[in-house]
Amino acid sequence: MPRLFDALAGLSFASVVLASPLQQRQYGASPCAAVAASVATQSSVATPTVPAQLAYDCITSVPFNQSAALALVDGVVPYFKWQSNTVWLKDPPAEYAEKVQPAVDIWGELETIRGKVVGGEYDSEYESTHDGHFVYVPDSVGNVFNFARPVPIVSVSSDGKELPKAYVYADVLAESFGNATFTSSAISKINGENAKDYLEKWAQIGSLQDRDALYNNVFYELATVSLGPVGSGIGTFAGSGRGRWVYPGATTEFVFENGTTAKYDNFARVLGSFAGITDGEGVYKKFLTGPQPTPTPSATSPTPIPAPGYPPPVVREIHNLIGGYYLEDDYSDVAVLSVPSFVGISAQAEFQATAVTFLAAAKAAGKKKLIVDVQANGGGTILLGYDLYKLLFPDNIDHAAADRFRAFESTDLIGQKFSEAAGTFPRTLVNETGNQTLAELNDDIASSVFNYRTDVDVNGSNFDSWADKFGPGINQKGDNFTNLFRWNLSDVLIPLNSGGIFIHGYGPLANYTQQPFAAEDIVVVTDGYCASTCTIFSELMRQRAGVKYISLGGRPREGITQAVGGVKGTNDFPWTYIQAIAQFTVESLNSSVAESIQLKSTELGEYFDDTVFKRASVGQALNVNFRDGIRDGDTAETPLQFVYEPADCRILYTKAMTVDVTAIWKAVSDSAWGGKSHCVAGELGGYKTIKMAKREMTVMDRVFSKRMHAWRRDLRAENYPLDVFTDETAMEVAGDGLMPV
Ligand SMILES: *[C@@H]1O[C@H](CO)[C@@H](O)[C@H](O)[C@H]1NC(C)=O
Ligand SMILES: *[C@@H]1O[C@H](CO)[C@@H](O)[C@H](O)[C@H]1NC(C)=O
Ligand SMILES: *[C@@H]1O[C@H](CO)[C@@H](O)[C@H](O)[C@H]1NC(C)=O
Ligand SMILES: *[C@@H]1O[C@H](CO)[C@@H](O)[C@H](O)[C@H]1NC(C)=O
Ligand SMILES: *[C@@H]1O[C@H](CO)[C@@H](O)[C@H](O)[C@H]1NC(C)=O
Ligand SMILES: *[C@@H]1O[C@H](CO)[C@@H](O)[C@H](O)[C@H]1NC(C)=O
Ligand SMILES: *[C@@H]1O[C@H](CO)[C@@H](O)[C@H](O)[C@H]1NC(C)=O
Ligand SMILES: *[C@@H]1O[C@H](CO)[C@@H](O)[C@H](O)[C@H]1NC(C)=O
Ligand SMILES: *[C@@H]1O[C@H](CO)[C@@H](O)[C@H](O)[C@H]1NC(C)=O
Ligand SMILES: *[C@@H]1O[C@H](CO)[C@@H](O)[C@H](O)[C@H]1NC(C)=O
Repeated sequence: MPRLFDALAGLSFASVVLASPLQQRQYGASPCAAVAASVATQSSVATPTVPAQLAYDCITSVPFNQSAALALVDGVVPYFKWQSNTVWLKDPPAEYAEKVQPAVDIWGELETIRGKVVGGEYDSEYESTHDGHFVYVPDSVGNVFNFARPVPIVSVSSDGKELPKAYVYADVLAESFGNATFTSSAISKINGENAKDYLEKWAQIGSLQDRDALYNNVFYELATVSLGPVGSGIGTFAGSGRGRWVYPGATTEFVFENGTTAKYDNFARVLGSFAGITDGEGVYKKFLTGPQPTPTPSATSPTPIPAPGYPPPVVREIHNLIGGYYLEDDYSDVAVLSVPSFVGISAQAEFQATAVTFLAAAKAAGKKKLIVDVQANGGGTILLGYDLYKLLFPDNIDHAAADRFRAFESTDLIGQKFSEAAGTFPRTLVNETGNQTLAELNDDIASSVFNYRTDVDVNGSNFDSWADKFGPGINQKGDNFTNLFRWNLSDVLIPLNSGGIFIHGYGPLANYTQQPFAAEDIVVVTDGYCASTCTIFSELMRQRAGVKYISLGGRPREGITQAVGGVKGTNDFPWTYIQAIAQFTVESLNSSVAESIQLKSTELGEYFDDTVFKRASVGQALNVNFRDGIRDGDTAETPLQFVYEPADCRILYTKAMTVDVTAIWKAVSDSAWGGKSHCVAGELGGYKTIKMAKREMTVMDRVFSKRMHAWRRDLRAENYPLDVFTDETAMEVAGDGLMPV
């Protein structure tokens, strides 16, 4: 199985052709012609499917083009330089290497691959970086087929204490809603291998770094399903998220603990038109030579995405990016703010409004406790993470970790020119009726991180010049990094970096000063899939406010797990954005033609080749992690990505939690305030005593509780989709900290 590594996975597919002759006899002419024939019979289907084996045989019959492969391998180099932490990935701290992921030498791997392309040998085993901000998926992996298994599974503990085992999700649904007599049996073997070992290995294809978080991502989860196409859906095992890029074999075979067996045919979605394709060469010409077919924009009409297993909300954003809920009966004191995303689409204002409305409603309804549920939260808009924190803690310290990026020729030149240009016009927010030239200058140049006026230093003071910000501040493991810097939340241009919102407590929202809940009345629950902006939010909540974190699920092993298992880099950059600002610097920030020629003769000249974009998978963002997060006072400047942070408490998933999200929230409430701990590891300190009032229910509480009972009574197995197609063309990716699944 090819491990996913950016550009290199594409080569690994191609290499298989040379390594093993095709078994194409069974298809007559060619496997790709067989795909075309099959697709032709499915004209009424939006996304046709073919057997996984057939898709695999087709994609591996695509001829290997040495010069094109070389251009691709060389084309990624300028962009890899922007990845903030390659020296740390190569030489991570011992605890990270032991508990999280082993070292990976990106530049060494790339050199090896290049050597093999040149020498005509092809390796098929590549390491992944496990940095969710570091993504390059070539067309051969992402454009032609997406693989899937027709059987989503879950990992649950029988009683919340025993280690979890894997079950077929449809069995759990049948057991929950069907005949009372049916009891599902756990999966003991997958394709002949011990299920736990198989799944732990499979989990590694995901984008997260933490192995328990990766393990959770293998399975069907209500929070990911609620995100629809922009989440990792029904789990990587069944082909959601990064699972769609890995060939799962022709079939999936289970042996259950009760001794029975089951066999499923895996399949592939056919993403492009196969009309007229007769062989692998046809696939090469049509899909793998660029330019890219334009992705069909998925309907962005505001139809609500179903959130199976979620109760009726008090208020929720229409894409389920954020929603507020109450619990019933003995849990009537508890409000739940569910935040599975920090918004990767244009819905920042709606997100903020939902949070504001819900917190006010919860206070007005007399709720005393707040659960913030960030399961499935892969990040989004950085400043929304700050705003939610400031809504909860308006008086607390205004910064999370400090930021830095690699200090090298490209970032220095771009910073010099951006800072110079930004000094020639006023830094001001211009409204729709104002000077549009000035509006664009502020949007494109002044609000950028490459203008030293945008951020403040670690003491909260303004930088004096670009050189003052750039440094280099520190040399680590052979790389130079900028001085540390932080967001200036008072900055007038905040809306240009936040999708249009101001932060509570600043600017026009400066009058927001009332903290709604005490820190000990708030608890945050995660499934480990907390990445990017979610990790910034978590740094604020844990380090600044001292809020306790609970992690769910994890591998079937004893002990505590991390609550925050996704990329802790504090900003990703799409490669398209890097190319755009480099070209803009050369062509538009020059004072003369001669200066433009001079700038193009520097490293900035490397960003004018389009190979990597033409050869990229359609609709899949190419990203690097641009900024590292450095915790306050860490003079060693270890990027938080490489810091192991155990949760305060670990709770295991049960079957009930996979069909009714309130079962999770009740276990969290019990453990935090109900005096009934579900923690299998860790503890919530002084939270053990009963703090949830057994209060007299109000009329509203009673009405609400009745509604909850009715909702639960009406749940049906059919409400739970067993197929969710991950489709990131629905995401709008900008330079402000989004995380692809
Ligand atoms: C191989 O790729 C190069 C571009 O690098 C292209 O010019 C050439 O036509 C391709 N060869 C074949 C056989 O498709
Ligand atoms: C109950 O089991 C019987 C026999 O297996 C089956 O025919 C029936 O459809 C099941 N009912 C439900 C609600 O699953
Ligand atoms: C054994 O367990 C599997 C998986 O839950 C189930 O499909 C099957 O019906 C069970 N067989 C028997 C004989 O109980
Ligand atoms: C927009 O800006 C102009 C001048 O910059 C000002 O006169 C006007 O009141 C502003 N409009 C709004 C709606 O803020
Ligand atoms: C708009 O702003 C630009 C840049 O500061 C300035 O050159 C221009 O004079 C302004 N136009 C008006 C009408 O004020
Ligand atoms: C921040 O303040 C401390 C203490 O005054 C000082 O030692 C340090 O140099 C300052 N750092 C910067 C970047 O100004
Ligand atoms: C780091 O910065 C120093 C001083 O500016 C410079 O001499 C050195 O070449 C830089 N190293 C790298 C790897 O860029
Ligand atoms: C932050 O931004 C405001 C408004 O743009 C500016 O006046 C201030 O100097 C900046 N820096 C600090 C430290 O507040
Ligand atoms: C803050 O001021 C705005 C108007 O500027 C007002 O709508 C809002 O209610 C005020 N909020 C508080 C908490 O006073
Ligand atoms: C900047 O360079 C471009 C070519 O890259 C040229 O067209 C333009 O005229 C130059 N701008 C100035 C102000 O000279």
